[in-house]
Amino acid sequence: MLVTGGAGFIGANFVPGAVAAYGRVTVLDALTYAGDRRNLAAVSSSDFEFVEGDIADAALVDKLVGQSDIVVHFAAESHVDNSIGDPAPFIRTNVVGTFNILEAVRRHDVRLHHISTDEVFGALPLDTGTRFTESTRYDPSSPYSATKASSDHLVRAWTRSYGIAATISNCANNYGPYQHVEKLIPRHITSVLTGSRPKVYGTGANVREWTHVDDHNAAVQLILDSGRLGDTYLIGSGQERSNKQVTQAILRLLDRSPDAYDQVADRPGHDLRYATDSTKLRTELGWTPQYEDFESGLAQTITWYRDNAVWWHEAKRTTEARYAAGT
Ligand code: NAD
Ligand code: DAU
Repeated sequence: MLVTGGAGFIGANFVPGAVAAYGRVTVLDALTYAGDRRNLAAVSSSDFEFVEGDIADAALVDKLVGQSDIVVHFAAESHVDNSIGDPAPFIRTNVVGTFNILEAVRRHDVRLHHISTDEVFGALPLDTGTRFTESTRYDPSSPYSATKASSDHLVRAWTRSYGIAATISNCANNYGPYQHVEKLIPRHITSVLTGSRPKVYGTGANVREWTHVDDHNAAVQLILDSGRLGDTYLIGSGQERSNKQVTQAILRLLDRSPDAYDQVADRPGHDLRYATDSTKLRTELGWTPQYEDFESGLAQTITWYRDNAVWWHEAKRTTEARYAAGT
């Protein structure tokens, strides 16, 4: 199995299970600011190989895909705020990189699973029961989600035009160990742990559906085992929370006052609400999230960040400097 982006948050949580299930696993990762070789330090199998390289390098991708039976494609530029500041790396990695993978998969007749996001569908209104489904029209808001939408369209087109053996999953917001401190939950936790106040964009009314990374990866494994080729699966826990609720849950779990946060300028084009209908995954493949109680998953995540300050300390410094500079 070839895992792209295996040194990032979700990929690094996926790789140990993949090594146990498949034996020979190669990770291809460019080790951008978001990738960290330490995330895979516990993977010790002699059949495991780490290749530092770029999915925009077509020759390297062709070689590694040619040595594989299955590709699980996590690699991406993943942060919305960064994409608004500078969209260029998002086009290169998310669009051109995915194109390279598709061409290699086509040449070598290799099975592909493409990891994507519910953000491709745009925003839902607040306070309604509406949810994204596998047939919701694409309507991306940010450069990040537009490039992920582009990559999904490429995968669908390669499936229809060239008959490649591919599946796609679109997951809701993830949380758990090894998530980069630029993202909401680890940013807030590490801000409180370092004595500063969490920053909430706008009023904090925006809603996200929080899915534990292990539940995401369990769904990916089910799709690899028995998903229908050519199909898309939505993944989401059903645990919707406003950003204000998430912020106040973190403050409560860290024994701070519920109003110990600041409201700051809103994100441009900020999607109001994401929510998925994952009935297809649940009924066809039998997926059930193990982290059904968001607050206890959040408490475990806080413990992980508290116990692993060495892992995030330097990234926290550079990330907050980047946020402060508005880049
Ligand atoms: P991440 O930013 O933590 O990790 C991305 C990894 O990809 C890093 O290790 C990075 O070094 C690597 N990478 C970036 N550009 C590369 C390139 N050109 N070549 C090779 N490697 C490169 O991201 P994540 O949160 O783990 O997200 C993984 C995937 O899941 C992405 O495709 C993302 O769109 C999708 N996704 C994320 C979430 C979420 O909440 N984090 C939810 C749904 C879907
Ligand atoms: O829905 C899936 C997507 O979830 C993934 O595709 C993306 O890769 C992942 O980054 C995530 O995107 P979001 O933009 O939803 O995540 P982020 O953690 O950046 O922000 C979550 C919400 O919190 C969003 O409404 C913006 C807000 N926010 C974020 C930060 C970093 C704040 O209010 N304050 C902050 O400091």
